Amino acid sequence: MNDLEKYFTENTDKSIHKWHHYFDVYDRHFSRYRDTDVHIVEFGVSEGGSLQMWKNYFGPKCKIYGVDINPYCKDLEEDRIKIFIGDQEDRDFLRTLAKEIPRIDILVDDGGHRMQQQINTFEELFPCIDENGVYLCEDLQTSYWNGWGGGGYKKWGTFIEYSKNFIDYINAWYSQTPKLSVSDFTRTASSLHYYCGMLVIEKGVVNKPYDSRTGEPKIVQFNPPRNRLKSIKNKLKNFFHIR
Ligand SMILES: C[S@@+](CC[C@H](N)C(=O)[O-])C[C@H]1O[C@@H](n2cnc3c(N)ncnc32)[C@H](O)[C@@H]1O
Repeated sequence: MNDLEKYFTENTDKSIHKWHHYFDVYDRHFSRYRDTDVHIVEFGVSEGGSLQMWKNYFGPKCKIYGVDINPYCKDLEEDRIKIFIGDQEDRDFLRTLAKEIPRIDILVDDGGHRMQQQINTFEELFPCIDENGVYLCEDLQTSYWNGWGGGGYKKWGTFIEYSKNFIDYINAWYSQTPKLSVSDFTRTASSLHYYCGMLVIEKGVVNKPYDSRTGEPKIVQFNPPRNRLKSIKNKLKNFFHIR
């Protein structure tokens, strides 16, 4: 059990609500920031328990910013915890917020979990996250739930469908069509990590990839005849149950 899960399990103070498998994911992507002056923003304050958990985990130099639509959350402000009240779906609010927070190393979206809230928050604030920072959106399961603006399977407009485009964007270097070209996202998102109900994006400066070969080539290269390729394609289709 890592320190976050231990804190959560032993917590008798302000209430925290998290899925249990999240703690390993947090620790995997956040541990490098422990005992640094990390600036972490969490959308979704609720009772304030998760903000206390971050404070305990990151140590005495961290700065925590909570964002919630509920004005009562403002009362949870304390030393090194600042609370902003607003609607994460409101782009003007998000733009103002970005100006008021001096730096974002980590952004956790645990707010309203509705599709446009997640999308607007991502679009307005992803560019504001430090160039080596981390974006984490949790409870992606709402993309599969009717009551949250999701539902169905591969439903257009859900955050999960929206985020699947990111896979193309990080590979845009190899595109042979003007429909997909290198963007700021391509240049600033170094890796995507999908977990059950979660997406983590590690930022980093990404340069155009290049390859090379080392060593002495010894084997004569073999190009399979076209009919052989067809049989390989059919085998793959059967394997993946593609019709
Ligand atoms: C899942 S709870 C947060 C749980 C908390 N992070 C924890 O771990 O205990 C979701 C919170 O998001 C807030 N919220 C809902 N809609 C919102 C919106 N549109 N903008 C900002 N916050 C919102 C709710 O008021 C609620 O406090």
